[in-house]
Amino acid sequence: MKTELHPAAPAALAAVDQADPVAVLRRALELYHPAVALASSFSLEDLVLTDLLLAVRPDARVFALDTGRLNPETYECAEAVRRRYGLRIEWYFPRPEAVEPLEREKGLFSFRESVAARQECCFIRKVEPLNRALHGLQAWITGLRREQAVTRSALQVVETDAAHGGIIKINPLADWTLEQVWSYVREHKLPYNRLYDQGYVSIGCAPCTRAVAPGEDQRAGRWWWENPEHKECGLHTHGRKPQV
Ligand code: ADX
Ligand code: SF4
Repeated sequence: MKTELHPAAPAALAAVDQADPVAVLRRALELYHPAVALASSFSLEDLVLTDLLLAVRPDARVFALDTGRLNPETYECAEAVRRRYGLRIEWYFPRPEAVEPLEREKGLFSFRESVAARQECCFIRKVEPLNRALHGLQAWITGLRREQAVTRSALQVVETDAAHGGIIKINPLADWTLEQVWSYVREHKLPYNRLYDQGYVSIGCAPCTRAVAPGEDQRAGRWWWENPEHKECGLHTHGRKPQV
């Protein structure tokens, strides 16, 4: 499905007001659809982007990575989104040939043993499926925000994703605060993951996510046993298989 892209397309995208997510999304769809898709984990940010994106173009594409270890509340949220918009979510699962040996040889909680073991699980359940989801795309859209983590402080609205063949990565909410995200969700009465009502702020896989105390870092509940500098699963870093 990859179509020829004019070499000036990234510049045309960077030329729109980067502080206006609707303008950014509209231009992204003009330039790249159908070779552009939103990656959704059904986070608050992704719900905002889904709402904005589908308002511009109801047939815009949304994909999601089902790691096999998501919380029931996340699946409920996905279903609520599917129904609200009549959206055909493009789900990706990990390859059984990779998950089955992992579970048989290392058990169901190998990711607790070391950063490398955790990255191995993230690679099999998230990074490899992401590579497949991005195949044929010229651009992808994420809900990343600068404020989320030290590892994300230099985030730009429009980036080149070297880890994925130099395709364009668009982060329309890069400079939004968590308060702005919540205001949009409330104002538009978006369905959201009920775990947010139980103290969760950033939600990934069930065994690697927990609620945080008020005032704690936004991603303190993700892989809470690791240092903040390690807290990336590989979706937004190198995209290569770790050596375990
Ligand atoms: S993660 O790398 O630590 O898992 P995070 O949960 O902060 O990422 O989400 C950041 C963005 O990555 C989301 O807004 C979404 O665009 C994308 N993303 C994360 N997890 C998934 C998933 N399971 N499926 C699709 N996209 C995802
Ligand atoms: Fe595995 Fe945890 Fe990574 Fe999910 S977040 S893929 S369960 S290590």
